[in-house]
Amino acid sequence: MKALILSGGHGTRLRPLTYSQQKQLIPVANKPVLFYAIEDVIEAGIHDIGIIVGPNKEQVIEAVKSVDWEANIEFIYQGEPLGIAHAIKVAQYWIRDSDFVVYLGDNILREGIVKHLEHFKKGNFDASILLCEVPNPQRFGVAELSEDGKTIKRLIEKPKVPPSNLALVGIYFFKPIVFEAISHLKPSWRGELEITEAIQWLIDHGYRVGWTKVENWWKDTGKPEDILDANRLILDDIKKDIKVKTKAKIIGRVIVEEGTEIDENTVIKGPAIIGKNCKLRNAYIGPYTSIGDNCVIENTEIEDSVILEGTEIKCGGRIVESLIGRNVKILEQSNHPIGRRLVVGDNSQIVL
Ligand code: G1P
Repeated sequence: MKALILSGGHGTRLRPLTYSQQKQLIPVANKPVLFYAIEDVIEAGIHDIGIIVGPNKEQVIEAVKSVDWEANIEFIYQGEPLGIAHAIKVAQYWIRDSDFVVYLGDNILREGIVKHLEHFKKGNFDASILLCEVPNPQRFGVAELSEDGKTIKRLIEKPKVPPSNLALVGIYFFKPIVFEAISHLKPSWRGELEITEAIQWLIDHGYRVGWTKVENWWKDTGKPEDILDANRLILDDIKKDIKVKTKAKIIGRVIVEEGTEIDENTVIKGPAIIGKNCKLRNAYIGPYTSIGDNCVIENTEIEDSVILEGTEIKCGGRIVESLIGRNVKILEQSNHPIGRRLVVGDNSQIVL
């Protein structure tokens, strides 16, 4: 069994962060989203991992190589991102005749893939998919089940009128027959080779396609609000671990990494995580906040937010439900004329 983890694509829905950063490297609870996928695959006993890389391939390779994984990791360059099925086709030379799992590197699944893999193996399926009930199925591939609910009748990519609320999770198990299915695909309306259509081809040609239901939470971190949501869900599970000495008031489950200085006027209310070598002075860090390494937070309240590394916030105000990139400066006004002074990148969003 091999695993193919997709870490390419342009991530347009996460701009401006994705102008400078591959979307799968955006951290949730201070860990790149991609690492959750790698961990799940290794936990399921798969040690041959191919990572599909695209536009920012050097970044992904460097980030993955910075960790000593218990796996052989191969990087496979996709070139133009032309869809999930295209990525699988590009990796055919590496997968060869192996069964494999495809894991979209921007998906996070709390329960991991162990039981889903077992179902695929035990049922001797040609393909097996994961389905999750969602309130907004229009955003995903959607499954229509047979009347008895045992088999999949139809899969439709981003339907205007969804036949059910069962979304296709971005995790798929395949036998190599899927390469034949992909060879019959034509680009969809969005110019991509759709994996949903490849699985439909398998169904239409009498191959056995199984499914399992996701019982716990699943997140596709495609948009800023998804990152905040995933951050809340991951922080809900953390345990208290404070690696520094401080006189600050720390309430609840909070992680503070090494080298971080927190003064006695600061209050942190968990669940929250503060990275390495940060400086927190006269700050309030509220629930569901992740602060990356090397940040400075002064005279500011931050709650329910994700702040990436190297950012300095000294604004005297209160920041909520925000996703703030790397090396950003948010400072308090100290001289006239009074007014908001902004240097904001393309496609940013500010609510004042
Ligand atoms: C892709 C798949 C879709 C699936 C989703 C899960 O969508 O095409 O069927 O439901 O991943 O994350 P995309 O992220 O390309 O819009």
